[in-house]
Amino acid sequence: MPYSFDEKVEMRQTGSIKWEHLHKIFGAEDLTPMWVADMDFKGPEPVIEAVKRRAELGIYGYTKPPEYLFESVSRWMENRHGWFVSTEWLSYSPGVVTALSASVRLFTSVGDPVVIQPPVYPPFFKVVEENRRQLVLNPLRWVDGKYRMDFDDLREKVKVSGAKMLILCSPHNPVGRVWEREELEELAQICLEHDLMVVSDEIHADLVYKPNRHIPFLSLSAELEERTIVCTAPSKTFNMAGLQASFIIIPNPNLRESFNAYMEKEHLAVINPFAVVAADAAYRHGDEWLDQVLDYLRGNLEFLVDFVEKRIPPLKVILPEGTYLVWIDFRPLGLAPGELQEFLVKKAKVALNAGSTFGEEGKGFMRMNIAAPRSILEEALMKIETAVASIKPAER
Ligand SMILES: Cc1ncc(COP(=O)(O)O)c(C=O)c1O
Repeated sequence: MPYSFDEKVEMRQTGSIKWEHLHKIFGAEDLTPMWVADMDFKGPEPVIEAVKRRAELGIYGYTKPPEYLFESVSRWMENRHGWFVSTEWLSYSPGVVTALSASVRLFTSVGDPVVIQPPVYPPFFKVVEENRRQLVLNPLRWVDGKYRMDFDDLREKVKVSGAKMLILCSPHNPVGRVWEREELEELAQICLEHDLMVVSDEIHADLVYKPNRHIPFLSLSAELEERTIVCTAPSKTFNMAGLQASFIIIPNPNLRESFNAYMEKEHLAVINPFAVVAADAAYRHGDEWLDQVLDYLRGNLEFLVDFVEKRIPPLKVILPEGTYLVWIDFRPLGLAPGELQEFLVKKAKVALNAGSTFGEEGKGFMRMNIAAPRSILEEALMKIETAVASIKPAER
């Protein structure tokens, strides 16, 4: 069925963080929310129907992921990514961040070095630091118009620090890279050479713009199965983060057993009954919706690029290969990072994620979520245009 993503859905009074926590996070209410990674689109019709049918049962007791749900995840990986995932490899976690934190706790010890690649999704810093591990930063580099991994720096840092684990973001939030096979192969080589375990956060795997193609890290070689965990979820793909269901792919039975035992011990192994039917319906019947949403997002991206080029030329859009998050360089405005956020909140009245929260390398950048009706995207861009025009060129 054809979907319309132009519809504005009223989200106030629902507890939506994106729409209702503006004051708490930005200190102002009347902002156009282009921040946290939720879409403003209704999900696939089969998901809505499945949730309604489940609601009508009227019993919402303790629930475990049924086998058919793991079969749906496995089939999705095969059909969408050409990747065989045995249902035996699958574990459940309410969130990907929960699984990242569990992996850090389970497979490293206090004080161990853990590598991340900033600018990167802020909880990557937290799951390392708050579990009292040592952060090892392997920043991405801007090479020939693209963010790239810095393999020389990685080799050196792993050797010097003796790092035990790397948390990979693939596709990468916030820079939007969909890593190419050669890049992932070089990373895999380093991990194998240095006995580095990889926890690959692939939550954005389904949100990739053609001709780019997501390559699951674990699919590269059987050797990686010993030491790699892939975190995936329908939450970003089908806009159901609030239902809290993630699927953690762990081929190594020892690692998987430890992970499952930890989730049981922490009482995190029960699933929301609505998440069961929603995730199952999404993975069985969500292809059509996803293809349409990707077309719409590509349209939004083209709209944004064109708008910025013509009407806000000081800004520079880093073209994402995947994700609905766009990394925008505001440095030509010449504002300090603290001033930049204040400028966008107070002058433009838009809520974007400050680049500095993704690491030092993000200073002067902002992350904009474009998964919104085009009219909302246009409103946000027009507000930014007006605010930028108010800065006298001499001040830039
Ligand atoms: C890379 C990445 N990982 C994890 C998450 C959040 O996952 P969860 O809500 O399942 O913990 C996000 C949300 O934006 C993300 O971008």
